[in-house]
Amino acid sequence: MTRFLSFALALTALCAGVILTVSILYVSEQNGVPRAPPLLAGLMAGLFAMLIGWRLLAAWWRPVLFLMPIATVLSFSISPWWFFAVSVLLIALQWNAVFNRIPLYRSDKMVGHRLTDFMQSRGYQSLLDIGCGDGRLLVRMAKACPNANFVGIESAPILYLIAYLRCLKQPNCQILFGDFWKRSWAPYDVVFAFLSPEPMLWVWRKAGRDMGEHSALLSLAFAVPGIEEDGLLPAQHFDLYLYEQRGGHQHADSMGKKKDS
Ligand SMILES: C[S@@+](CC[C@H](N)C(=O)[O-])C[C@H]1O[C@@H](n2cnc3c(N)ncnc32)[C@H](O)[C@@H]1O
Repeated sequence: MTRFLSFALALTALCAGVILTVSILYVSEQNGVPRAPPLLAGLMAGLFAMLIGWRLLAAWWRPVLFLMPIATVLSFSISPWWFFAVSVLLIALQWNAVFNRIPLYRSDKMVGHRLTDFMQSRGYQSLLDIGCGDGRLLVRMAKACPNANFVGIESAPILYLIAYLRCLKQPNCQILFGDFWKRSWAPYDVVFAFLSPEPMLWVWRKAGRDMGEHSALLSLAFAVPGIEEDGLLPAQHFDLYLYEQRGGHQHADSMGKKKDS
């Protein structure tokens, strides 16, 4: 189902839920039932909207449809400063996702194990996590491999702060604030990415330009479109796609195929 169609269906379910609730409450009132409090009306509308959309829409719409009328009713009695405060918090947490469409979702434990095993098997000494989120993965790896260095770059201020504080006591772990596109990836043996499908070709190109011979780019879950990976490391829910670097001599031709020059 297209995004537009599901949005239109959700809106229809919501309107139907509200109309049904208003009709029931109106008829009840005409028959002497005392006026329902606004919160009860919101609950009824949410319940109806959810039930109407139940079979028509994806399951994640159900809580959205249920909560929307309740949130609307509550919003009349909540100070607008709360909305402002929540917006500021969300912007500080993930403002960058608006532009780069890469939200925070964290790698699980197994990814850390796979990455450290990979580094040890090849004798690699350093790893850069481009978009390190709250730094949980990096700290885990830094503890598991005290002789290697781990660096993360994060552009969302609050996530950076959390990652920075988390890494303070870990001497082989460092968190940098900023945009990973603007920094060199040259000093690292491994660059790890868990981003989205969209930037992967650009990530691969930058890795090819910046990274030295015998280094490696590893991308969790998202392959580089049109480029054959050099290996796959299974890591619980997703695979890690391995792209070996051959010293800044890789280019994607117009077909997106890898070739060495
Ligand atoms: C999917 S999360 C991955 C978090 C962590 N690497 C992990 O595997 O658990 C991607 C992170 O990349 C960050 N990010 C996206 N674009 C960025 C950029 N250009 N520079 C720095 N960080 C970026 C986002 O803020 C988000 O925290």
